[in-house]
Amino acid sequence: MRVLLTGGAGFIGSHLADALAECGHEVVVVDRLHPRAHAAPPDYLREDVEYLRGGLDAATLDAALAGIDAVCHQAAMVGLGRGLVDAGDYVRDNDLGTAELLAAIHRRPTGDRPGRLVLASSMVVYGEGAYRCDRHGDVRPGPRERARLERGQFEPTCPRCGGELAAVPIGEDAPPDPRNVYAATKLHQEHLAQASMREGGPAVTALRYHNVYGPRMPADTPYSGVAAIFRSALAGGQAPRVLEDGAQRRDFVHVRDVATANLLALLAPEPVPGVFNVASGEPRTIGELAAALAASSGGPAPEVVGGWRAGDVRHVVASPALAAERLGFRAEVSFAAGMAELATAPLRAPVATAAAAVAHHR
Ligand code: UD1
Repeated sequence: MRVLLTGGAGFIGSHLADALAECGHEVVVVDRLHPRAHAAPPDYLREDVEYLRGGLDAATLDAALAGIDAVCHQAAMVGLGRGLVDAGDYVRDNDLGTAELLAAIHRRPTGDRPGRLVLASSMVVYGEGAYRCDRHGDVRPGPRERARLERGQFEPTCPRCGGELAAVPIGEDAPPDPRNVYAATKLHQEHLAQASMREGGPAVTALRYHNVYGPRMPADTPYSGVAAIFRSALAGGQAPRVLEDGAQRRDFVHVRDVATANLLALLAPEPVPGVFNVASGEPRTIGELAAALAASSGGPAPEVVGGWRAGDVRHVVASPALAAERLGFRAEVSFAAGMAELATAPLRAPVATAAAAVAHHR
């Protein structure tokens, strides 16, 4: 199979390039090695993969798509960033980039288009996770009230009676409720890809990644997830700073498992159109994450500092059942083994550190 892999020099994309090349597939990577993500070309680029250094523009994509059987679209700007000041960049990279990719596919003659598109989506499209109220059954709470957060009341309450809720696994059929710019662009990517599919484009498998961690994560930047932030703090001898009360839950899924999920979608005998959670199915609290990383690295114990970030959600607990049933995907890396590995795995240096190193060298 000849696969076009966008973002193939990045955190998740590079593991996917490894997995595809090691299975003997031809891989064409389009990646612009954005300085915000890469201080220098990473040392894990492969000789048996073709790298086209460029953005998602018509010329690069037209050249890259020749003879391609399947497209795996991982290139994206991720994380919360610096808030709305980054909105233009998120929309350009994620929405417009995907639109350009789809347009390039549709410029090809019908018989010469890739047959499938695997899209990196995210659990952020759900917003707050799913909950059950004793009196009102399944509910989806809206954003948490500032006054409650200020009193240290972090749990969302029933939108109908204000009562206590229990978090339950969220399925793919839950209505999306994106809460930040990045989340809005990820949902838009899904919608654009599905519009293409309805108009004769490739079959779309959208993989909603939960919190991905593992080697090659970018180190602490405004665009990093919590596992990289804690890992970077510990590497600098600092305690992980746990927000809220540390009881908020996420599903941490290892990057090699995420690569496997993509491979299953790309290589299934027939395309598997649909939207799938990619998760371990074993949610953990942020406090547990901090404790596991601190213990594995021998660093200082986590500090629960309280406070919260605007737009953060409390629990996102995933159901991995549909991906297991339709793609045969089951995460294999255990939380304990994955965190022990992350504690010492190399992260990609943030640009600021690399720039400082260059300045120092001069
Ligand atoms: C994260 C990513 C999102 C990605 C999604 C799925 C960010 C900002 N968010 O969403 O892009 O799509 O996973 O992979 O990258 N926290 C601390 N201390 C810190 C930082 C965070 O306690 O220093 C807590 C937060 O309060 C939050 C939790 O960690 O409750 C998770 O934070 P984070 O990983 O940043 O964001 P997610 O919302 O899970």
